[in-house]
Amino acid sequence: MTSKVLEKMIDYFHNDIRRINHALKVFNFSQIISDSLLLDEKTKEIISYTAILHDIGIKESELKYNSSNGNYQEIEGPPIARRILTDLGIQGDIIDRVCYIIGNHHSYQKIDGMDFRIIVESDFLVNAFEDGMNRHSIESALERIFKTEKGISLLKTMYLT
Ligand SMILES: [Fe+2]
Repeated sequence: MTSKVLEKMIDYFHNDIRRINHALKVFNFSQIISDSLLLDEKTKEIISYTAILHDIGIKESELKYNSSNGNYQEIEGPPIARRILTDLGIQGDIIDRVCYIIGNHHSYQKIDGMDFRIIVESDFLVNAFEDGMNRHSIESALERIFKTEKGISLLKTMYLT
C-alpha cells in the first residue's frame, strides 16, 4: 500500500517536483530510522503514510492563504491525507493517527510517540539541507529534538562530521 500512497502523493503534487522530492527523501529517512527499531506493523504503516503525506497541505495553504507557513499546512493537510487514505481503504485508526501527526508535525512539544518522533527527525534531516541550516541550528536540534540512536547518527554523519 505504501507505493499506492506514494503515487497518490505524486499525483497530488503533480509538477511540483521539489515537494515530491522532499516527501520521497523524508520517507526514506523514516524507513531507515524505523527499521533500526523494534516497531509493530501498524506503527510502521503509520510512519510510512505520515512521512509521505506530512506536507500535503502545502498547496492548499499557498492557494488559500498565500503562505506555506507551518500553521496553515497543519490545518489544511489532515483532510487531504484523510481523503487519500480513505480512498485506498486504509483502516480508520491508522488514518486518525496519521492525521494527528500531520496536523501537529511542526509542534515539537506535542511529540507523543515513536511514530511522531520519527517523522520530526526525518523531516529535520531533509530540511537541514534544503533550508541551508547553519551548524549552530543543527547542533541545537541534536540536543533538543533528536532522540533516536539512528536519527542522531544520521544527523552527525551528514552534517556534523
Ligand atoms: Fe517536510
